[in-house]
Amino acid sequence: MALNKKELKQKEKEIKKFNRQKFKEYTKQKNRKSVPEQEYVTEMKNSNNLIEFDNLQTYFYTDAGTVKSVDGVSFDIPIGKTVGVVGESGCGKSVTSLSLMGLLPGPYGQIAGGEIRYNSKELGKTVNLAKLPQSIHSKIRGGEISMIFQEPMTSLNPIFTIGEQIEEVIYYHDPKETKEGRKQRTLELLKSVGISRVEEIYKSYPHELSGGMRQRVVIAMSLACGPNFIVADEPTTALDVTIQAQILDLLRELKNKINASIMLITHDLGVVAEMADYVVIMYAGRVVEKGDVHEIFKNPKHPYTRGLLKSRPVLQEGTERLYSIPGAVPNPINMPSGCFFKNRCENCIDICDTVYPELIDITDTHKVTCHLYNERKEG
Ligand SMILES: Nc1ncnc2c1ncn2[C@@H]1O[C@H](COP(=O)(O)OP(=O)(O)O)[C@@H](O)[C@H]1O
Ligand code: SF4
Ligand SMILES: [Mg+2]
Repeated sequence: MALNKKELKQKEKEIKKFNRQKFKEYTKQKNRKSVPEQEYVTEMKNSNNLIEFDNLQTYFYTDAGTVKSVDGVSFDIPIGKTVGVVGESGCGKSVTSLSLMGLLPGPYGQIAGGEIRYNSKELGKTVNLAKLPQSIHSKIRGGEISMIFQEPMTSLNPIFTIGEQIEEVIYYHDPKETKEGRKQRTLELLKSVGISRVEEIYKSYPHELSGGMRQRVVIAMSLACGPNFIVADEPTTALDVTIQAQILDLLRELKNKINASIMLITHDLGVVAEMADYVVIMYAGRVVEKGDVHEIFKNPKHPYTRGLLKSRPVLQEGTERLYSIPGAVPNPINMPSGCFFKNRCENCIDICDTVYPELIDITDTHKVTCHLYNERKEG
């Protein structure tokens, strides 16, 4: 039922009041001088994992209402493995990674619940990144955890040379290194990401390089501190197809060399097929299917995953045909009751209208949230 003007004004007022209260609470928490360790020191559930997302909830308190961008997300990133996080635009992939990195835009964006457990080498213990004070978070960010964004210029400063920027990262994490040592390490890093003429690139400014070269530089920068975890958010989306393939090859090669774990965010299942060991399919802020990449590609269960697989470009009768899942992601402020995918689902049954499906084990390494498999189990 549509609200009249007066009711709308009243509602707006209530939302603003609610948000002010929330900001006050979060700011008070954040500004505390000392935070007792027991608030953020925790234990991994499984020692083979580097990261465990456990029921993460990340909200944006906007003037239009609370946007539940990430609404109870759980998945693991095992040591030395690549996990692909996939879904259409707006399904919460980037917000999941920003929550992990401690880079949510405050005070609007906040972690409202859940844990992100991380086994930190530098700190020598497992911490809950969702509760970690900023001062400690910034130490591990850009050090043992590094991030590669879609648009390389996000990470590059146009007024400094490539050499200066990589050296600055080295200096920040290793202030004892000599000037000459920093330069040598920078040149080595540039070489390791497949750049030739390294002396020339070292002296260049970002605008003098192509998109693909800039992304290589950003990857070199992200390796500067020997990370054991790399978050790559659509690292090849802004590049042309041939360069995409080169950057993916490079990431794969580096992963094997440094034995890092990678969280690879992409809307393209093709990229995941080539790169990942595990895959997490997200829809409207939740995980709808997850597990071993081969199992899911061979036997996709969720109608959304099947739609995504169908929407990959295929060559048919000499022409490239693109399927896209009909309809759109529901408004995150007013999620429907029942399954969030119901309005777009070809297999919808009665129960889907009212009850959100629970996570079901298809195998030990393949899980799905969809009523179709519940029914089958019971019947
Ligand atoms: N700063 C913000 N303010 C309000 N809503 C946001 C903000 N950033 C992201 N969102 C919302 O959170 C949801 C998830 O966004 P995002 O994680 O960026 O999606 P994607 O999967 O494309 O990376 C979207 O509905 C988006 O509109
Ligand atoms: S729960 Fe129902 S609506 Fe949702 S994906 Fe499964 S069949 Fe479709
Ligand atoms: Mg994104």
